[in-house]
Amino acid sequence: MKTTRRGFVKTLSLGTAMGMLGQSMVLNKATAQSRAAHASGVFDNGVMQLNQNESARGPGEKVLETIRQYTSKRVGRGYSPDHVNELRDALADYYGLNRDGVLLATGSTPLLEGAVHAFCSRGKPLVTATPTYATSANTARRHGIPVVDVVLDDSLSIDLEAMINASTGAGLVYFCNPNNPSGTVHGPAAVENFVRRIMAASPATRILIDEAYINYADPALMQSALPLVKEFPNVFITRSFSKAHGIAGLRVGYGLGHADTLDAIDRAWGMGDVNMLGAIAALTAFEDTAHLEWERQENAEIRAMVTGAFRDMGFMVPESQTNHLFVNLRRPAREFRTACLERNILVGRDFPPMENTHSRISLGSREEMSKAIEVFRSVLT
Ligand SMILES: Cc1ncc(COP(=O)(O)O)c(C=O)c1O
Repeated sequence: MKTTRRGFVKTLSLGTAMGMLGQSMVLNKATAQSRAAHASGVFDNGVMQLNQNESARGPGEKVLETIRQYTSKRVGRGYSPDHVNELRDALADYYGLNRDGVLLATGSTPLLEGAVHAFCSRGKPLVTATPTYATSANTARRHGIPVVDVVLDDSLSIDLEAMINASTGAGLVYFCNPNNPSGTVHGPAAVENFVRRIMAASPATRILIDEAYINYADPALMQSALPLVKEFPNVFITRSFSKAHGIAGLRVGYGLGHADTLDAIDRAWGMGDVNMLGAIAALTAFEDTAHLEWERQENAEIRAMVTGAFRDMGFMVPESQTNHLFVNLRRPAREFRTACLERNILVGRDFPPMENTHSRISLGSREEMSKAIEVFRSVLT
């Protein structure tokens, strides 16, 4: 049959339309399923998500109540959003900084990206541990900025001596404390020595200390680097409301540092607009210290249970101060991931250069982890 141009276009449009219809039916089904899942409080569509380090428990009741209370017609007004300045001022007060010593962002991710844009260039590399949280290194690589990767030491801690040695002339040093994925921490004396030595040898280098997981850490083992931030204008901290505060979906994070340093980050990259519900939820979560302490304790107990289970099976797990474990399973992460997924559990991605031995497992709720341990046992032993 001869296909005329018009006929071809007609067939094509019909095909395209059918394709679009099919696609939109699939999308509608997925959307309906996801809405139903949310309405029933099930977040994972039947798959246990132990692949991302959000809080398995979500926000506390006070935060949920606040979100309900502030969900009103007022959200129609958002270009000068309420509560954002309130949040910034509360953070500044609490940390003893001027208000320009706090930079809010839509999660801490834009701060990590912005810092690379502000302080690194082809001649001023990024120094980072590996494996660690990868946003800084990914941002640098995407923009042709050299990255110096410093492999974790044998105890899976960040190798501070090697980082110090690599830092002279660097634009930015990214130091994740506690570290993701290994969960390890450095105490205040080690961090102070690290910062002082880099600042003495390379005074123009900036140091970003990522404290996203600090609320899960035992205060006897690690402390915030805030005193160093107050002493050194080139040292700054990033924090997130996505972890222990349980509001990853509302996207709120912040930087603490010298006004000039934060301003350089803000000018280099978009921080996004923190919205009014995110701001009031973050403020409530920040003030609800009783809930935060409960969350820390709950996570610590679950972490001890899962760490113990892996050690009983004969696997090495470094002491974690976060809501995830990095376990030496002596097999490729991909193999373990595939076996777990066949049993409806999603565990962490590859973390080069340790992807052939180590897997990261984010900690879910108590109930989830009791089930997960059984699955891990069946897969691993
Ligand atoms: C160490 C670390 N920093 C920062 C982030 C970014 O989190 P957010 O943008 O939600 O604040 C994450 C997220 O997993 C993380 O693990």
